[in-house]
Amino acid sequence: MPKCIIDGREVEFKPGQNLVEVAASVGIEIPVFCYHPGLTVVAQCRMCAIEIEKMPKLQTACSTPAAEGMVVKTKSDRVKQNQKSVMEFLLINHPLDCPICDKSGECDLQDNSYKYGDSYMRTTEERRTYMDLDMGPVIQKSMNRCIHCTRCIRFGQEIAGIHEMVAVQRGNNTEITTIDGRPLETDYAGNYSDICPTGSLTLKDFRFKKRVWYLKKTPTVCEGCSRGCNMEIQQDANTVYRCVPRTNMEINKYWLCDEGRFNYQYIHDAARVLNPAVSGGTAGLQMTEWSQAVVAARSSLDGKKPMVLVGSDLTQEEVQALQQFLNKHLSGTPIFHFGTPGVTSTQKDGAADPILKRKSKTANLNGLEKLGIKGFESVPSGVNAAIIFRGGRAVVPELKGVGTKVGVGVFNKPDAEDFHAILPGTSFAEKDGTIFNFEGREQKFKRAILPQGQSKNLPEILMLWANSGAVGGAA
Ligand code: SF4
Ligand code: SF4
Ligand code: FES
Repeated sequence: MPKCIIDGREVEFKPGQNLVEVAASVGIEIPVFCYHPGLTVVAQCRMCAIEIEKMPKLQTACSTPAAEGMVVKTKSDRVKQNQKSVMEFLLINHPLDCPICDKSGECDLQDNSYKYGDSYMRTTEERRTYMDLDMGPVIQKSMNRCIHCTRCIRFGQEIAGIHEMVAVQRGNNTEITTIDGRPLETDYAGNYSDICPTGSLTLKDFRFKKRVWYLKKTPTVCEGCSRGCNMEIQQDANTVYRCVPRTNMEINKYWLCDEGRFNYQYIHDAARVLNPAVSGGTAGLQMTEWSQAVVAARSSLDGKKPMVLVGSDLTQEEVQALQQFLNKHLSGTPIFHFGTPGVTSTQKDGAADPILKRKSKTANLNGLEKLGIKGFESVPSGVNAAIIFRGGRAVVPELKGVGTKVGVGVFNKPDAEDFHAILPGTSFAEKDGTIFNFEGREQKFKRAILPQGQSKNLPEILMLWANSGAVGGAA
């Protein structure tokens, strides 16, 4: 591999790598604003300027590929003076609102100002201000904080495939906005907030709910479709506050779609059934004890011919435990997977857009097929009851002629009102597990929060069922 010298250290690099990346590979930070590894390089903020031997002027590290024998200084006096000047320039118009800015704690502008800026400001002029029009349901705009790095414009054009963010006016009046002030249209709008290095574009969903330094982070996999994008659950005190992308160049690169990003909201939905419940006839679902709910679930199947429906939003471990349970206690019961209307097999899955989204709106369709389970098409003849296992995403199909339904897992009112019993289970954030994405990639994820309410993990529910007396259902 070719080598260059950065701050006196010999560093190997891959041909084509720029100096920001090469320096980062050995733990040397070169501060950036406009550079983002997932976007084209425009080299317009000048924050990354460094000294290269034999070059009279400072060079932008983000746009300079490393070369054999190159000698680079990232901490010389000239470099430091440039960083101070760039910070001063960027802050000329920036409001002093860090204490009430939701980006605080993860703001590149704030961090770089602290690390590379000066503590004095020479300007006394009034700061420029903008009117902020509504950008739609995902993003809150606060353009007084914008440093015109154009990451958002490039994200729209290059990744989301939509030219919706633009720079209007010129010079000191330059403003980043949407075309004609229209709301954002992309299904990937949450990424604008991730890539903005300031508090100019923040998530409406997360804003002012929690300071970022209180959040605990757990790596996980999105369950929103069969791509299985890598992401991080961020929670505090057992409440999920947001999900953000985790870089995986093989699967989702740096991005998440909005459906996957905000999917976590069902975990804390007030309509979620979090207590064991049994049918109270016209009074709807009634909360009860676990033992009573299990007995009610079991006895509702007495004398019936049931089938088992397994959501393709369950993990491999859960479905394997379920298969063992069925072999032992309900042998011969037909079993099918369900998840997305019209996508009853991996053959029927496919790209839902040219970016990330897949047609299968559950994460483990591939995994369930690996376990030999076929997709649900219609109720088999003679079947008049169903035990439905659901993780939180799978859409329960219409079940003609099925009078008795028992739900195990995550269910919401009012959809669950006609069930004979609900045994509340855990969402993807409340358990460990393994899933296989549409390409067959095996991915593991970790529990981020404790089971909500009285919900339990599936193996525990199956154990309660197995130990609750005669196991029901066998006609
Ligand atoms: S809104 Fe954010 S990402 Fe867009 S140009 Fe301004 S600072 Fe950069
Ligand atoms: S593309 Fe699929 S897996 Fe990726 S974030 Fe969206 S819903 Fe989740
Ligand atoms: S990060 Fe290199 S010029 Fe902006």
